[in-house]
Amino acid sequence: MTDEILPTAQYDVFRHFLEEACGIVLGENKHYLVTSRLNRLTKEFSFPTISAMLDTLALGTNVQLKERIIDAMTTNETSWFRDGYPYEILRHELLPHYAKKKPSSFRIWSAACSSGQEAYSISMTIAEYQVANPGALSSFIEIIGTDISPTVLKMAREGIYDEINIIRGLSEERRERYMVKTDDRWQIRDAIKAPARFAELNLFKSYSLLGKFDLIFCRNVLIYFSSESKTDILNRMAQVLNPGGYIILGGSESPTGYSPAFEMVRYEQGVIYRLKDDWKP
Ligand SMILES: C[S@@+](CC[C@H](N)C(=O)[O-])C[C@H]1O[C@@H](n2cnc3c(N)ncnc32)[C@H](O)[C@@H]1O
Repeated sequence: MTDEILPTAQYDVFRHFLEEACGIVLGENKHYLVTSRLNRLTKEFSFPTISAMLDTLALGTNVQLKERIIDAMTTNETSWFRDGYPYEILRHELLPHYAKKKPSSFRIWSAACSSGQEAYSISMTIAEYQVANPGALSSFIEIIGTDISPTVLKMAREGIYDEINIIRGLSEERRERYMVKTDDRWQIRDAIKAPARFAELNLFKSYSLLGKFDLIFCRNVLIYFSSESKTDILNRMAQVLNPGGYIILGGSESPTGYSPAFEMVRYEQGVIYRLKDDWKP
C-alpha cells in the first residue's frame, strides 16, 4: 500500500477534530507531517485508506483509535531538570518559603507531565532540600503528574527509563543516587517515586477531582493551544491554586495577555508567576 496525501478538505476536518479533542492547533504547514503519522496508524489498525480510518474516527465509537491518534499527534518531548531554572527556584526560593510557613501538606501538580521526568525531578529536588535542611520541610508532600496520553503515563508510573532517556539532563551523580539499574534500563528508587502519583487528564476537562495545589508546573504545553484555550486553562488553574500559590510555565510561555490571575515574580534564576492576592474568579 502506498502512502496517500490527505486531501485539504479532510485535513481541515482532522484539524478541527484534534483541536476539539485535545486543544492542539495544527498549522497549515503541518499537513505533510500529519499525513505521514496518519499513514502509519492506518497500517497499524489495518484500514485500507486514511479516509476509512478517519470515517471510523468520526463515528466516535473506537476509543482505542482515538487515543492512539491523539498520542501520535502530541509531542512528548521532555527531559530531567528541563531548563534548570525551575528547579533552582524551587530549591532556593519556594521550598525555604514553604518550610517557613510549615503547611500540613505541600501539593504540586505537574500538568502535562509526559513520561514523568518533570515530576521525578521535582521529587529529587525536594529530597535534596530535605537532606540539606533536616526537619525543615516536614509537610505531607504529594506530586500529581497528569497527561492526556496513556502511553507516556504508563512510563511515568513504571518509572523505568532506557539509556537514551536517562542521559537527557540527569547527572551521573543523581542517576547513581536515585536510580537502580535493571538490565539495560534504569528504575527510579522508591523514595523518589513515593510522593508521585499519575493520572490521565485532558487539560480541557475539569480539574475539580485533583484538589488544591501550592505549585503548578505547566510547562511546554500551552504553546500548542489557541489564545482562548490558554486563557481558559490558566484561569481554571488559578482556581485550584491555594492562596499565594505559584505556577511555573515553559521558557517561552507566559500568562501575560491571557489571564489576569497571576503576577510575575522575577528571581535571579528566572521568572515564575504567583496567584494575585486580590484575584477573584
Ligand atoms: C512537550 S511535552 C512537555 C512535558 C513536560 N511538561 C516538559 O516540559 O518537559 C507536552 C505534553 O503535553 C501533553 N498534552 C498535549 N495536549 C494535552 C492536553 N489537552 N491535556 C493534557 N496533556 C496534554 C502531551 O501528551 C505531552 O506529554
